[in-house]
Amino acid sequence: MSATAINQSATAIKRPATAVNKSATAVQRSVLNIEQIRHQFPALQQQVDGVTPVFFDGPGGAQVSQPVLDAMTGYLGRYNANLGGAYFSSKHTVALMAQARQAAADLYNAAHSNEIIFGANATSLCFSLSRAIARDWQAGDEIVVTALDHYSNVSPWVLAAEEKGVKVHLIRVNEKDCDLDYPHLAEALNERTRLVACTYASNTTGSIVDMTRVIELTRSQSPALIWVDAVHYAPHNSIDVQALDCDFLVSSAYKYFGPHMGVLYGKSDVLAALKPYKVAPAKNIDPNRWETGTANYEGLAGFIAAVDYIASLGAQVTSPGDAPSDSRRSQLEAGYHAIADYEQQLSTAFLHKLNSYPNIRLFGLKDSCDANRRTPTFAFRIEGIAPRAVSEFFGQHHMCIWDGNFYAQGLYEQLGLTEVGGVVRVGCMHYNTTEELDHFFSLLDHFLAQV
Ligand SMILES: Cc1ncc(COP(=O)(O)O)c(C=O)c1O
Repeated sequence: MSATAINQSATAIKRPATAVNKSATAVQRSVLNIEQIRHQFPALQQQVDGVTPVFFDGPGGAQVSQPVLDAMTGYLGRYNANLGGAYFSSKHTVALMAQARQAAADLYNAAHSNEIIFGANATSLCFSLSRAIARDWQAGDEIVVTALDHYSNVSPWVLAAEEKGVKVHLIRVNEKDCDLDYPHLAEALNERTRLVACTYASNTTGSIVDMTRVIELTRSQSPALIWVDAVHYAPHNSIDVQALDCDFLVSSAYKYFGPHMGVLYGKSDVLAALKPYKVAPAKNIDPNRWETGTANYEGLAGFIAAVDYIASLGAQVTSPGDAPSDSRRSQLEAGYHAIADYEQQLSTAFLHKLNSYPNIRLFGLKDSCDANRRTPTFAFRIEGIAPRAVSEFFGQHHMCIWDGNFYAQGLYEQLGLTEVGGVVRVGCMHYNTTEELDHFFSLLDHFLAQV
């Protein structure tokens, strides 16, 4: 079968009347117009070798909507300047930065926009803040990291611990569904625990961690600070740092339809008590003192547009007759609600079909498609076949899927996957369709027939 023949066009998908656990009104509210959504993404409209490519590589980086592109080029083309000048473009840049902080505060439901710190990416922010957080650790103190995490949220802490003689606990994964082993976490916590670093969702298996449980356990058994990695979680579900009561939470805008940059929340009193590594002339005020060097202003312009894009999905799903949600935060919540509902349908369709292949082993939740328990990110191995061979075949057909370990080294070591090329990862976003999943399975059958 040629790549052209098996290519599918995107069509609008309506939520079935039998949708899970929702009232008729809620179902109506959660319908996204996928066709209209896809039109906003130039990458989804393009042809490569006469084929519309399919992007199942969202967990590695999402596609970007036109308003985000426009915001970035608009800034660079007309207002490119640094902060603090007495002229229009510099003043524009100062205002842009304040707007970006407010957009992030809305995204995270932070109490104040001065609790938002921008950086190059999540990893750099973690390295930078971990140095300041670890300043007063003492030999004999302890920290907790997890085997479910991307090593962006493990190595910075382990390296800091090594320097200070601090003991590191690596919390295991519950192998049945690739969730965190919560009893193991409870065993590891004590009065000497200074930090718990934990992912909100696995970038490999899509498992969503019960973060409320992690934080309650941590607070009840230790004085530790809590650092949440929401990088994989943020494109799929709404974040509320006040409800969570975490100390830090980080995400990367390029995972949720924006540019390459990291966005950190730090609780104001925790930030105030820390001392950053900064250049002497830079102002010693939060949050600026954590942002070393010149910021990525065009990235901030794109970030605002990305947050507004998610909010626009919330505005879109409001039923006629409903009072329009006037705050961006409530639109963001509605947008995420719609995304989660729709992605649950994608998970249902994918797992239903994948579970019928006897020679395929899925790592992660096999039976539950609940968007509160998993994202539509799937890790699997085909018996006897190297993951790279699978992704190469799909790549030839312009279907973008990944293979490897995705820096989730603890998970791969625990599951014994390090020496065998890791897993194949198919990651859906709300701009993917069930037609694209059908296309995936027809390619998979084609692949299996020839190996
Ligand atoms: C769960 C998770 N955490 C952290 C990171 C690192 O993010 P960044 O590339 O912004 O440093 C990634 C990147 O894929 C990730 O998936």
